[in-house]
Amino acid sequence: MNEGAIGIFDSGVGGLTVTREIMRQLPMENLVYFGDTARVPYGSKSKQTIIRYSTQIVNFLRTKNVKAIVIACNTASALALEELQEQVEIPVIGVVWPGAISAAEATKTMNVGVIGTAATIKSEIYNKYLHELNPDITVVTKACPLFVPLVEEGLIEDRVTDDIARRYLSEFLEYNVDALVLGCTHYPLLRNTIRRTLGDKIKLVNPAYETAKSLKKLLMERDMLNKSMAKVHHEYYVSDMTDQFVPFADRVLPFHVDKIRVVNIEKYKKDSCRRNP
Ligand code: DGL
Repeated sequence: MNEGAIGIFDSGVGGLTVTREIMRQLPMENLVYFGDTARVPYGSKSKQTIIRYSTQIVNFLRTKNVKAIVIACNTASALALEELQEQVEIPVIGVVWPGAISAAEATKTMNVGVIGTAATIKSEIYNKYLHELNPDITVVTKACPLFVPLVEEGLIEDRVTDDIARRYLSEFLEYNVDALVLGCTHYPLLRNTIRRTLGDKIKLVNPAYETAKSLKKLLMERDMLNKSMAKVHHEYYVSDMTDQFVPFADRVLPFHVDKIRVVNIEKYKKDSCRRNP
């Protein structure tokens, strides 16, 4: 069981930013990554659809005998985490709670900004968690839907992205915000752009670090760490072989991914892995 892989999934390529952090903090763990590249973006979809997609992915990951699952997508974490935790008996963690913990620890002014997809912001999950952690925190949120396609197009350092960032983020300068949660897996790649827009007084919180830390803690507490001396293996699956995956992976991961397999994800029906059907 301990040699079983960690299943990690995202709506597409963005979850590789979380995967990189998991590799850094848990180098001995085997990993299976699934990116739903055929159906990205999730950020503009309904809760019902996001739960259906996420359930299919969990069903697929279970066929790989994963020992735990990380939802490396803010949108799916915001809308599907509870449902998935009820469906399977292995641990499932998302990125939103860890992101909220990091932000609550980072703020001194008690004014926290959160940016994310339309679905994540509409869910108000960051507001809920941040208030749970500290009722004195004021949360200012903003959906930034154009950031995802800009990153996917590779416009990371580009005038167009700077213009959009100014439009989305300027209002954070009016509040006394001192911590901004990058509440979408693509946004850490826009760190320089966001810095240029907001200056260096606002801490940029990437939930990936705290997510990997929470995962490590959970595996240690349950004695589930991989102690085998066998060579670690990482597998990558997508629902469509898009042109973006490899260039994005090359930008994010410390090595080149040469083997990516395509999965017909619609095959993994909603109820096929229910604990008590
Ligand atoms: N991975 C998604 C997230 O972190 C962003 C992309 C999407 O809209 O699917 O929210």
